[in-house]
Amino acid sequence: MHNIDDWDEDVLKRYPEPGKPAKAKDEFRNYDSPGTDGVREFYRLNHKYQTYDNVLAKKANFLKFDKKEMPWWSAMEFLNTLIDDSDPDTSLDQLQHLLQTAEAIRADGHPDWFVLTGFIHDLGKVLCLFGEPQWNVVGDTFPVGCKFSDKIVYPEFFSDNPDSHDERFNTKYGIYSHHCGLDNVQMSWGHDEYLYQITKDHLPEPALYMIRYHSFYSQHREHEYDHLLNAHDHEMFKWVDKFNPYDLYSKSPVEPVVAELKPYYEDLIAKYLPATVKL
Ligand SMILES: [Fe+2]
Ligand SMILES: [Fe+2]
Repeated sequence: MHNIDDWDEDVLKRYPEPGKPAKAKDEFRNYDSPGTDGVREFYRLNHKYQTYDNVLAKKANFLKFDKKEMPWWSAMEFLNTLIDDSDPDTSLDQLQHLLQTAEAIRADGHPDWFVLTGFIHDLGKVLCLFGEPQWNVVGDTFPVGCKFSDKIVYPEFFSDNPDSHDERFNTKYGIYSHHCGLDNVQMSWGHDEYLYQITKDHLPEPALYMIRYHSFYSQHREHEYDHLLNAHDHEMFKWVDKFNPYDLYSKSPVEPVVAELKPYYEDLIAKYLPATVKL
């Protein structure tokens, strides 16, 4: 993909805002080559390489949190260096997407930890700045270690994934059991799991579910993995469902002014999170 955000735009095409007509294709950004080719190629790589072993290897590396340590606000600015110059009409930088998501949550009167969650939910995309390819950072997430649902976008590309041909992993349950609970399930690697691991001791549980599963569209939109969720997961997914529209549909015509909002978000960070974040 030209830009890491092309994936988000593609999700929006798949799941348009209810009650609003789906955007015509030409309302979305266009490149010299059609954006869909880039997204298709992105998923070809994602589905081929997101194996059970990939997840364990990425966890072994990134959950050491030995790459960088900095104040949270600085980390948000660090994330914001993730801008693709080749994109002729970058609509939003990372910080704008996060502020717009958070401000929409705040405007609806939700608790402050929910607002904070909106503000930081994509910080895990700093993985790109550590050299990770896009397919290991963004895109729909899904369980590994069991059969890939055919409701995941571009399911045909899973035939190139070695796990599809490994009898430990290619059955409905694979290495898991009936209603074993998502905490026992390995998800494909990406910015969701990474930020969950960073924040898991600091935020209320609904916030952690939103962070950890916000790209798990085959569950929160398609309910394809009900057999792995336990009752508690179902309860918590109500929060994931509540969060998702803010992530997808909060693009505002008027861009929030970072300098004006910074004090409010600095206070929120100070209330819930340690002074620095280890990445
Ligand atoms: Fe995200
Ligand atoms: Fe997002």
